[in-house]
Amino acid sequence: MEKQRLFSSASPLSYSSNSILCCNSLLLLITLLVILGVFLPWAGSPLFLFSNTNAPSSSFPSKWVDYSLAKAAKFVAKNGTLIACTVSYPFFPFLNNWLISVSRQKHQDKVLVIAEGYATLYKVNSKWPGHAVLIPPALDSQTAHSFGSQGFFNLTSRRPEHLLQLLELGYKVMYNDVDMVWLQDPFPYLQGSHDVYFMDDKTAIKPLSHSHDLPPSARNGRTNICSCMIFLRPTNGAKLLMKQWIEELHAQPWSKSNKGNDQPGFNWALGKTAHQVDVYLLSQAAFPTGGMYFWNKTWVEETKGKHVTVHNNYIIGYDNKMKRFQDFGLWLVDDHALESPLGKLD
Ligand SMILES: *[C@@H]1O[C@H](CO)[C@@H](O)[C@H](O)[C@H]1NC(C)=O
Ligand SMILES: *[C@@H]1O[C@H](CO)[C@@H](O)[C@H](O)[C@H]1NC(C)=O
Ligand SMILES: *[C@@H]1O[C@H](CO)[C@@H](O)[C@H](O)[C@H]1NC(C)=O
Repeated sequence: MEKQRLFSSASPLSYSSNSILCCNSLLLLITLLVILGVFLPWAGSPLFLFSNTNAPSSSFPSKWVDYSLAKAAKFVAKNGTLIACTVSYPFFPFLNNWLISVSRQKHQDKVLVIAEGYATLYKVNSKWPGHAVLIPPALDSQTAHSFGSQGFFNLTSRRPEHLLQLLELGYKVMYNDVDMVWLQDPFPYLQGSHDVYFMDDKTAIKPLSHSHDLPPSARNGRTNICSCMIFLRPTNGAKLLMKQWIEELHAQPWSKSNKGNDQPGFNWALGKTAHQVDVYLLSQAAFPTGGMYFWNKTWVEETKGKHVTVHNNYIIGYDNKMKRFQDFGLWLVDDHALESPLGKLD
């Protein structure tokens, strides 16, 4: 549901050149790029904007094409832990916004951006070398804009596969959607040594002392845990959950009524592995869903000082999402860009 809302707006950026370029001019451009590539350093060149194609041309002088997940994870992980997010190019401003908030808690060094396309890969790594990786195949610029399409879903629903790979490599992984903001350091809240930690996406208010178990299933037979924020230890339980999530996504693939949303699959997987996986439900006051944080002023006042992360969900449309962050003083990129390791975006 959240992904559907997230991506239901039209693309906010018109960076793509594909509509302008046709076959002949594309050939010309590639020739031009080869020539320019000899003289211009790749990094910082505005030409990276043209690189958002399905496969990188071998003429692109970038070492990042061969940068594997294993190499990237080894580079960013600190003490066996890393923080992963997956980002498609239109969400770059949200990535930067989230990164500022992560940097304020001094955890930015552990961040690994799993880029959905080459434009994102090059842009992150040109400004912040080594912090982005692309796991082929890439989202081409056409598909990247087809939010809600089957092609978009096929690529973006690989999230549990990426997370499983990181677990197999032996890392503890925190996954975050980039339409989140950290207000405090979430790590102290990962208490005990459970396989997996997550937050509820339901808006019903719970007592501060609520249980940390998987909530009772709703009438439709499943929970509504958010796939936006997940912490995993490299245990058999966590791997089993990721495998089940992958299976659920294959069993209930994209459909017209359930476009590009992998959260139900996560919840089915949680239900089916409930007796084999040691889970921990994070505190609602610390990890509120957007449906509470942005909708219930009374509750926010009552729980003041307890909020750790804020998720900008329960809203439709990219521009609305950005505006809501602005209205709540959580849009940091305009005034605090220098606090991001990516700096100011051009
Ligand atoms: C590194 O991890 C160990 C074991 O999980 C923990 O006890 C220790 O405090 C961590 N050190 C840092 C610097 O985070
Ligand atoms: C998406 O994946 C499904 C199932 O693997 C496949 O049948 C379909 O052709 C794919 N669609 C696109 C547009 O990639
Ligand atoms: C908003 O929060 C208050 C205080 O916790 C609660 O009493 C009220 O029921 C909430 N309203 C809704 C619509 O959930």
